[in-house]
Amino acid sequence: MRIGTPLSPNATRVMLLGSGELGKEVIIALQRLGVEVIAVDRYENAPGHQVAHRAHVIDMTDDHVLRQLIALEQPHLIVPEIEALNTATLANIEKSGIATVIPTVKAVQLTMNREGIRRLAAEELNLPTSPYAFARSEAELQAAIDGGIGYPCFIKPTMSSSGKGQSRITQASEVSTAWSYAASAGRVNQGVVIVEGQIDFDYEITLLTIRAKDAQGEISTYFCDPIGHKQEKGDYVESWQPQAMASKALEESKRIAKAVTDSLGGLGLFGVELFVKGDQVWFSEVSPRPHDTGMVTMATQRFSEFDLHARAILGLPVDVSLREAGASAVIYGGHNTKRLAFEGVEKALAVTNADVRLFGKPESFTKRRMGVALATGKDVDEARASAKLAASLVTPVDL
Ligand SMILES: Nc1ncnc2c1ncn2[C@@H]1O[C@H](COP(=O)(O)OP(=O)(O)OP(=O)(O)O)[C@@H](O)[C@H]1O
Ligand SMILES: [Mg+2]
Repeated sequence: MRIGTPLSPNATRVMLLGSGELGKEVIIALQRLGVEVIAVDRYENAPGHQVAHRAHVIDMTDDHVLRQLIALEQPHLIVPEIEALNTATLANIEKSGIATVIPTVKAVQLTMNREGIRRLAAEELNLPTSPYAFARSEAELQAAIDGGIGYPCFIKPTMSSSGKGQSRITQASEVSTAWSYAASAGRVNQGVVIVEGQIDFDYEITLLTIRAKDAQGEISTYFCDPIGHKQEKGDYVESWQPQAMASKALEESKRIAKAVTDSLGGLGLFGVELFVKGDQVWFSEVSPRPHDTGMVTMATQRFSEFDLHARAILGLPVDVSLREAGASAVIYGGHNTKRLAFEGVEKALAVTNADVRLFGKPESFTKRRMGVALATGKDVDEARASAKLAASLVTPVDL
């Protein structure tokens, strides 16, 4: 293990494919360790572009363009932060030994498609999941629901995130609209949807799971304290840590998370999404990278999920200890504009134990996540109240 001097021939170079708010924090963590970082995104002035050594704007689904940029920058590690990538290109890069893809090409390929990861979890690893089926037409969708999935159910494009194209329906009259919505919103293979029976969970968690080298240089699995979160229309609005759990449910969560991440392989941090009811746990999905609900760890842990990811991918040891209870609350744009401003940050920061991150996204949409409020507290309830209060005091204005 050796880290060189940034901007010199012996630099340790890491390229991020996708440079949103999560990538931005990974970049900052890498910069602190003296790594040279190249931020790539499909639009200019993405959050991560603003803190990297170099920034590029390219179409990352284009094989030729992506290969050219990798040849130009010669990164040692390639860290996909988004799912809309040419994974065949990455597979070739990995195979020819040009760079290491984090955590592995297999992980990136399987998790970008709900079909890949669901079949792995349910059919290969025999982990509990919601009942599911894949449909390529409205008729197939209706047949799957009638054939056993039932209502209420969730219909999602197989390639999408943050709730895009996703609906929850309760009766047959809604199938047609849900089909069209999901079939048109998917990113790449439009027209393939997953339908999932609803799991009637008590709460849902993200279990941040890290594959990192231990003192012997062997890959070990580490778990952060569970993160509870609240979702609205498939998008996270609030998260907190630690989520209180029965010990059996926590053990089962770790078993599931380890099975999935062992199978995906490589080094790095994963966000394993799980549904919990009593002692029962269902696997939902997994990100092979820091998770949006995990932004709370910037307030709660000795090392945030971003620090942990940076350390793990570099082959460095990790420390997952929780420092104190905390929470995060999302700050939305509230406007469709390219000149958003925030007022009231001084009021938000005057809230006891509160902090704010503004991502610096160049364009705001009403429901675009533009920042996050963080808070700690004597317990999760107090932290949640402070985070929500701080978020509400930040007022986006179009000026
Ligand atoms: N089968 C299900 N049963 C119950 N709730 C579900 C089910 N599927 C999805 N949900 C709810 O919808 C949320 C979003 O679903 P999911 O994580 O699959 O979509 P996503 O688009 O990947 O969202 P994100 O990118 O924010 O994680 C879940 O966190 C959960 O609250
Ligand atoms: Mg999710």
